[in-house]
Amino acid sequence: MTDKKGKLPLILDGDPGHDDAIAWLLAEASRRTDGICDIRAVTTVGGNVSLDKTTYNALRVCTLLGIEAPIAAGAPHPLTADLMVAPSVHGESGLDGPALPEPDRDLSDLTAVELMAKVIRDSEDKVTIVSTGPMTNTATLLLAHPELKSNIEQISLMGGGLGFGNWTPAAEFNILVDPEAADIVFRSGVPLIMAGLDVTERALLEPDDFERIRDVKNPVSDIVWQWLEFFYKFHKKLGYEGAPMHDPCAVMALIHPEIFTFEDYYVQVETGGEYCRGATVADRRRVMDKAPNAKCIMNLNRDAFADYIFEGVRAYG
Ligand code: RIB
Ligand code: CA
Repeated sequence: MTDKKGKLPLILDGDPGHDDAIAWLLAEASRRTDGICDIRAVTTVGGNVSLDKTTYNALRVCTLLGIEAPIAAGAPHPLTADLMVAPSVHGESGLDGPALPEPDRDLSDLTAVELMAKVIRDSEDKVTIVSTGPMTNTATLLLAHPELKSNIEQISLMGGGLGFGNWTPAAEFNILVDPEAADIVFRSGVPLIMAGLDVTERALLEPDDFERIRDVKNPVSDIVWQWLEFFYKFHKKLGYEGAPMHDPCAVMALIHPEIFTFEDYYVQVETGGEYCRGATVADRRRVMDKAPNAKCIMNLNRDAFADYIFEGVRAYG
């Protein structure tokens, strides 16, 4: 739902990360073109790499994209577990590849949870949280400020998978890094849109798409096509035909839901288990007497998805 002015107030919480950065590009391009997204805050979490690196990356990405919202650093590690990072996928910096501009702004003096709470408390209209990393900040916000749930429209999250994992056979990385946080979010009662691997592994940008973006030749497209090339390197070795745009699905589902298919399921997060910790277990046959807690994205029109990312990059012309 958008507010009275047709805008969708957003908090972007992530661990940039090449695909987090492209998700944030989509949100900012939407603000500049169709006026749907209204980015109120950017918050960072340890995940792909350590918090200091994801926060430095967030400052640089927001500088590159011209995102004017305040930026606050969040949780350096999960609620109970040690931090697990993924430099093999995103590089040691978490955003390896092209050189990026140095930050043109300072971090907020607030913590991520303090900034999230302030934005939600002060907003006339319900706020949507876009979560594209481990959900430690969002879980902490929900535990510390349960009274603010009524002013959260939804949480659109990239995480989990109903059929398989990508870090273990059962678990997707964002959930596996902090299953306790994910469990709190899935039990919270806040409406959820879940962009799991079921759809994100189909949301592939292919080399032809990289070239199309490269040929746009604006300051942002010059960076994005190189991010895609870098991100594809890891995935090509695994047999992917393109770069899976995991995190952009969580934003695209808000601005172009028509290109996706959804199923409402009751989803639980496994926090124990020897083999299945971090699994997102959906009651697909509805054998439990539980109302669905998540709109799970199951499929997409890939060509339309790629076109909208291309249009987002062109918006910086
Ligand atoms: O499993 C994919 C997720 O892990 C994405 O959010 C990516 O950025 C990494 O954080
Ligand atoms: Ca991410």
